[in-house]
Amino acid sequence: MTDIAVLLSETRSFPPPADFQRQAHVRDRGLHDSATADPIHYWAEQAKSLTWRTPWTQVLDWQPPHAKWFTGGTLNVAENCLDRHLAGPRRNKAAIVWEGEPGDRRTLTYWELAREVRAFANVLKSLGVRKGDRVGIYLPLIPEAAVAMLACARIGAIHSVVFGGFSPESLRDRMNDAQAKVVITADGGYRRGQIVPLKRNTDKALEECPSVQHVVVVQRRAAGPITEAHVDMREGRDHWYHRLMQHAPDACAPEPMDAEDVLFILYTSGTTGKPKGIVHTTGGYLVGAASSARMVFDLKEEDVFWCTADVGWITGHTYLVYGPLANGATCVMYEGAPDWPERDRFWQLVARHGVTILYTAPTAIRAFMKWGVEHPRKHDLSSLRLLGSVGEPINPEAWMWYHEHIGGARCPIVDTWWQTETGGIVISPLPGLTATKPGSATQPLPGYSVQLLTQQGEPIPTGGGLLSITRPWPSMLRTIWGDDRRYVETYFSKWAGRPDLYFAGDGAKRDEDGYWWILGRVDDVLNVAGHRIGTMEVESALVEHPAVAEAAVVGKTHELKGQSVCAFVTLRDGHQKSSALREELREFVAQKIGALARPDDVLFSADLPKTRSGKIMRRLLRDIAEGRALGDTTTLADPNVVNALKEQYADSEG
Ligand code: WT7
Repeated sequence: MTDIAVLLSETRSFPPPADFQRQAHVRDRGLHDSATADPIHYWAEQAKSLTWRTPWTQVLDWQPPHAKWFTGGTLNVAENCLDRHLAGPRRNKAAIVWEGEPGDRRTLTYWELAREVRAFANVLKSLGVRKGDRVGIYLPLIPEAAVAMLACARIGAIHSVVFGGFSPESLRDRMNDAQAKVVITADGGYRRGQIVPLKRNTDKALEECPSVQHVVVVQRRAAGPITEAHVDMREGRDHWYHRLMQHAPDACAPEPMDAEDVLFILYTSGTTGKPKGIVHTTGGYLVGAASSARMVFDLKEEDVFWCTADVGWITGHTYLVYGPLANGATCVMYEGAPDWPERDRFWQLVARHGVTILYTAPTAIRAFMKWGVEHPRKHDLSSLRLLGSVGEPINPEAWMWYHEHIGGARCPIVDTWWQTETGGIVISPLPGLTATKPGSATQPLPGYSVQLLTQQGEPIPTGGGLLSITRPWPSMLRTIWGDDRRYVETYFSKWAGRPDLYFAGDGAKRDEDGYWWILGRVDDVLNVAGHRIGTMEVESALVEHPAVAEAAVVGKTHELKGQSVCAFVTLRDGHQKSSALREELREFVAQKIGALARPDDVLFSADLPKTRSGKIMRRLLRDIAEGRALGDTTTLADPNVVNALKEQYADSEG
């Protein structure tokens, strides 16, 4: 985690370079001032840059904690991302410049992408998908992922993208929760030279997904040995994408959607064992995505924008697909790992495609730092003009390395704070306006109202506290799919009697200049390599193993990943601790949830430290995991438990 002492002593400041500022979309505080004076007017102005079928009658209908934006308005997201660019000079502009991990390449112009989307929209219709139906997308990072999302948007189907690294069980649970009718997957994807067996995983998941009627399989056989013959296709249920597309008509009128119709569901981890289906709607989401992409990344006609996130995460939704395409930008998409086949793959991609804006995660930057400057130095990175960071706090050291060795000390860095729930960036520098400080996300964007609050809800002007968004914003989540109560409880019940205050789950610090420093989660949610993992999810997986009686999971500081998963496990009678069992449990979690949740450490313990009321004291476990002096132990039911654990931990470390 970010070291507060380091942040407190950070005094370096980087004003926007003069030549960047000169050409930037936003270069004075006027926008902030007018947005603060009248946020509703501000958002209405932002919304006007989209194409609406029918205008809205009310900008905001706020019945805390439920918001409706642009009520009465209708629009179509695919039309905004594609059709409206086809009449002008963007028609033949590259929309997606894609590279597969094995080195295969494809470029789709706006014209070609629009055609593909219309044809696939017809395919979905032919499979019985109607407005409001849910469609699962479980694909590698290939252009068809964007095509599938946009095709859903075009006909008003609700997509639920599941990251290709998730297990069959994770896919199953998400498909069942949303009652998906169709799943779109591929014969495989490439990761570090290995094939991820997505179709096989899908088959396994669908053994227990009665709602799914059809599976569309994209052939991703580029350089690999997979062919049609190797894939088990179930008669009547499974269909090859390329075959369906052969006969699909390419005319498909966009469905006019109500601004508040659901655009997608995206599952994310919370503090229980069950992931939450975050619901985003059409109008407000696109207003937030399009306006923030334009402002924060200063998107211009000639830019080549590379957001390295997978479509399985919100970053991939908002800044790989919807935000940039709504702006008519050229997006780079790369399927694979940054160190495949060599550790210079990213820099090779930047140079080859002339990337001008690079948006990636601190965990990647720390890995690049560790791998050494010789890798970026091999390539000409002079096309870059702006860098971005997202997903976790970026330590000043990594920020400086990014600035010097990737940005050539000339590119502003935008450290963007946001969440799956916020739909788009909330706190970030505007690169032509804001002086940056390494490690600080700086200030809220125009139109957002963010405050630091105490546990009791008192505002804190400077110092540390809980991060709250105090006014609704267009791209905010609307609910949790099928569980509005959980929506109210998780996000709008932190401060009694104040259902208007959004609780982000993050701790933050505000300095004397009004700059924000995000300190990380204050709930039982981990951030491992920029990915959100609920401690309860991992615990639930562990206790399903026959040897495990009880499990407690905490985060542990990790040099590259930010945090790693550390599990404390008590065994059932008749089971003995062993390194083989430790390995088995690590693998078990990876199988249950996905490799990203695999614990780095599994500690066996005769007992877990609990309060007298039986609550596991994770705080003490964190102290043990970090090798820190133990905090207050006076509320422990049995103080001996932690001593035994500490000894055991010292053994296992040694
Ligand atoms: C959590 C949200 C939306 C981006 C991808 C992650 C952490 C995100 C930053 C940042 C410090 C950050 C927070 C947040 N986070 N960006 N710039 N600085 N922390 O989305 O999976 O919904 O996770 O990521 O802890 O709550 P997510």
